Amino acid sequence: MSTDKTTHLLTKEVVDKLIRDYGSPLLVFDESVIKTRYKEIEGALDILYPKNKIAYSVKTNYLPALISILKDSGVLSEVVSGFEYWLAKKLGYRDEEIIYNGPDKSKESLEEALMNGAMVNIDSRDEFLALPFKKLKNKKIKIGIRTNTSTRSLSHQRFGFNLENGEIFSFIDEVKKKYPQCVIAGLHIHLNSVIKPSHYEDIAERLSDCAIAIEKKWGDSIQYLDFGGGFLVPGARSMWGILWDVPDIEEYVMGIANVLLKKFPNEKPYLIVEPGRYLIDEAGIFITTVINSKFVESFQDNNKIRHLFANILFKAKKHSDSIQIAAIDSNKTSILKSLSDERHIKLIQTNKSLKNKTYSTYIVGNSCIPPDYLSKKINLPCLNRGDKILFSNAGAYSISRSEQFSVSFGKAKNLVGISRKKKSFGNRVICYWICDSLCGLEKAY
Ligand SMILES: Cc1ncc(COP(=O)(O)O)c(C=O)c1O
Repeated sequence: MSTDKTTHLLTKEVVDKLIRDYGSPLLVFDESVIKTRYKEIEGALDILYPKNKIAYSVKTNYLPALISILKDSGVLSEVVSGFEYWLAKKLGYRDEEIIYNGPDKSKESLEEALMNGAMVNIDSRDEFLALPFKKLKNKKIKIGIRTNTSTRSLSHQRFGFNLENGEIFSFIDEVKKKYPQCVIAGLHIHLNSVIKPSHYEDIAERLSDCAIAIEKKWGDSIQYLDFGGGFLVPGARSMWGILWDVPDIEEYVMGIANVLLKKFPNEKPYLIVEPGRYLIDEAGIFITTVINSKFVESFQDNNKIRHLFANILFKAKKHSDSIQIAAIDSNKTSILKSLSDERHIKLIQTNKSLKNKTYSTYIVGNSCIPPDYLSKKINLPCLNRGDKILFSNAGAYSISRSEQFSVSFGKAKNLVGISRKKKSFGNRVICYWICDSLCGLEKAY
């Protein structure tokens, strides 16, 4: 079961008080974990490649208090929509501290960001051609270009311009013809979220070669190479399962830094990274309460032949192994999309059984979706209504990916399940401000 630092702080007394004050389910954050992670990545970059910038990927979790903690530490802001750009500005970021990515930037925010000197990475030809060139009145503007590589999947290649097939160079030709005052200031890539250090090394080669070719052909010296996010932390949930054994941040940074130092012996570009999960995943703990629990017999196999065979072979054991099903007051659409294993879980039990017996347990949600599982086949002691289940690694891609589908609205759900209308930023954020009071364990007291 969970051994991380934050769940250790969450003793029975602390959790009871938090739930008394704020209700269950509840998402809490440990500010010190966020700061530690930031110091680690900053330390690695400063040693290996001092000309660097770190930008927090706001989409990972856009609670204002989290963003402000990072802002106060000197982290820039990486945004991907009009909403996130607005939020970053609202929280005091200046345009030059904002990196604006994404395939669907709102027209107004894109114009504002470009005019005011944010680092805007153009995602598509259509996005560029829709810029208000007349309004720009020959003013010099700087753009970055989002790139992709054929060495990765289609889902990666849907963003930006290809580095290998000449697409990016044809685009720059078009840019220069359409608006000669446009300077290419940077190149950007994000390799998706489960990345090895060797992938960064390879992409650093490709981005550097592209930057050198751009300077040679058009004279624009590339000021930054932005490598996006993708740095893993132990316990990160992904489409491929849960990852506990992950590379150190130094390994990732070294892969990129060595290439840039070699490729740019004189004037060096900024090395930018946009971590999301790395900074906040481990800081978030999701506290839930068991609403009911029961034991069921292991399900029967519907395949008649297999069933008959199993009956003959294991007659004595038939239906002997029970499975525990514990339902909690939240569900997988609310916060945690992928399954948790024993190491993510800390239990706080009201009536602890003296027996040490554990059972194969499924933790299920309170929605009406039958396969609403938060954990499958993990070994837990007998659980009762009122017991608390704490899930670690709940900081990243939880709130920002939560859905509306639920049968009950617990307090945390009320705070996060707000209208998704793009324009109603005001409403949406007021609610997040409320949720903010939960941020930081010390602050909750
Ligand atoms: C452009 C960009 N930058 C940064 C990130 C953050 O990635 P991670 O949370 O894996 O660090 C993402 C995530 O999707 C992204 O799309």
